[in-house]
Amino acid sequence: MTILWKESGTFGEEGRERGESLWIQEQHKPKLGLEKDIKTDVAVIGGGLAGVLTALLLKQRGVHAVVLECRQVGGGITKNTTAKITSQHGLIYKKLITGKGEQRALEYAASNQLAIEKYKEIISKYNIDCDFEMLPNYIYTLDDEQKIMDEVDAALRLGLPAVFTRETTLPFKVKAAIRFDNQAQFHPIKFLDAVANRLDIYENTRVTRIYKDGLIVTDKGSVNARKIVIATHYPFINVPGYYFIRLHQERSYLAALEGCGKALDDFRGMYLDADPDGFTFRKYKEYIILGGGSHRTGKYHAPDSYERIEKAARQWYPGSRIKYYWSNQDCMTPDSVPYIGLYSVRTPDIYVATGFNKWGMTGSMVSAMIISDMITGRKNEFKKVYTPRRLMLSGTGKLLKDAGIISVSLLSQHLNIPHDKLKNIGRGEAGVIRHNGKRTGVYRDVDDKYFFVDTKCPHLGCKLEWNKNEMTWDCPCHGSRFDIHGRMISNPAMRDAFNSCIKKKS
Ligand SMILES: Cc1cc2nc3c(=O)[nH]c(=O)nc-3n(C[C@H](O)[C@H](O)[C@H](O)COP(=O)(O)OP(=O)(O)OC[C@H]3O[C@@H](n4cnc5c(N)ncnc54)[C@H](O)[C@@H]3O)c2cc1C
Ligand code: FES
Repeated sequence: MTILWKESGTFGEEGRERGESLWIQEQHKPKLGLEKDIKTDVAVIGGGLAGVLTALLLKQRGVHAVVLECRQVGGGITKNTTAKITSQHGLIYKKLITGKGEQRALEYAASNQLAIEKYKEIISKYNIDCDFEMLPNYIYTLDDEQKIMDEVDAALRLGLPAVFTRETTLPFKVKAAIRFDNQAQFHPIKFLDAVANRLDIYENTRVTRIYKDGLIVTDKGSVNARKIVIATHYPFINVPGYYFIRLHQERSYLAALEGCGKALDDFRGMYLDADPDGFTFRKYKEYIILGGGSHRTGKYHAPDSYERIEKAARQWYPGSRIKYYWSNQDCMTPDSVPYIGLYSVRTPDIYVATGFNKWGMTGSMVSAMIISDMITGRKNEFKKVYTPRRLMLSGTGKLLKDAGIISVSLLSQHLNIPHDKLKNIGRGEAGVIRHNGKRTGVYRDVDDKYFFVDTKCPHLGCKLEWNKNEMTWDCPCHGSRFDIHGRMISNPAMRDAFNSCIKKKS
């Protein structure tokens, strides 16, 4: 096993691993950008799994939909997923029954189970080669058997295929686990590309403005649409909708290990620790994918996340090697249920799909089913639990806590921060100084080049924080991220973090 990440923030030298997801090794067939103003029934903004599936289900019903994607299909969060297709979303069912009642919990359970069937149907209908496999999914615990037993009871009440077990193919003993049979895994980008090739998609086309009458302005041209679906991962219209006080983002880290020997041959199923600090596992061909180290984007209290994964890999799969490593983030809702439906009561022709809480494979399919039903006027029996209008009484405490974090961060942007001197910033490190009267983030590379970024987040002005795991500037409020030049990596910000001047040390 080679060193993945050193304290100085540089990657290990020997047989350098690749800091990108296992899934983006596949060839993507690029699509043209918008070249003229167009008209359509439905414009779907965002070419991730949620957007592409929505456009597909609409097309299957004879509705003309176009997808507008600012990068390339799957180039957002979807390329970095673990790609487990399951209705077993941690220990969610007891929580749902308690917090929302049995009817809403049933809607959630049944819609996610149906999503698995819908994947099977689409893959078989279009003969998609995406390494789709039906497998059991497990949530395990190393310490608290009772919580697993409670979850088995809750899941069985909702008609889910839950089994209590202590048998797994993990390289350590678990105290207890809940198993759901007939779940699935796949290669997300092979699937997405195959579906996208059947649709009208404009890549490298960034939406910059939306008007209530259905006019969408992009950096390439405009689109007139009867209905609009916002599937941009984090919704970018702040008002109405107010998603910025109803969502935060969480990051997690993943590695694909090769050379796992017999442990790979024996490995079967998909696994997640019920403890949020625990690990996730699945297999893909010759790799075991191992992940963990979740934290709120922009907040780093935990030890280095990649080092934790590397240590775990060394312990459980001795002799293995990290071939790929990457990270990802997802939008989290206070009640752990996505927002799917009308964007707001004031926008009757705009829909949203967001807040998948790290379960966006089934979540995207559920949102595609609900939104395509709503647009085509069909009844949908699951939509109530997902309505973005819900009061979220069960999540009020969390909501207030999130709002607290946001206001603290907004305030501290305007406090007088002690000036670090450039010389105090070591090679491969970052710090914050005052530069031209502005609080400025500085990254110094190993060749003594300095990279400056305005640390005021262009979304709503929170203070960006340095992420030493990934050498990015991250926003703790809603999770926008920027590289060392200030170029935007993740929304909801709509532009770069200004000020990417680079100067050589004299
Ligand atoms: C570590 C980790 C592991 C995960 N593993 C799993 C798993 O095993 N199973 C599971 O079910 N879920 C998993 N998830 C969650 C899942 O990956 C996501 O929920 C899902 O991929 C989100 O898809 P999306 O379409 O909403 O977003 P995206 O894939 O990000 O798509 C949104 C698209 O919108 C585009 N866009 C943004 N702004 C604009 C604009 N202004 N104009 C045009 N286009 C725009 C972006 O470029 C992007 O391509 C995981 C998440 C994490 C963090
Ligand atoms: S203020 Fe919202 S992402 Fe930064």
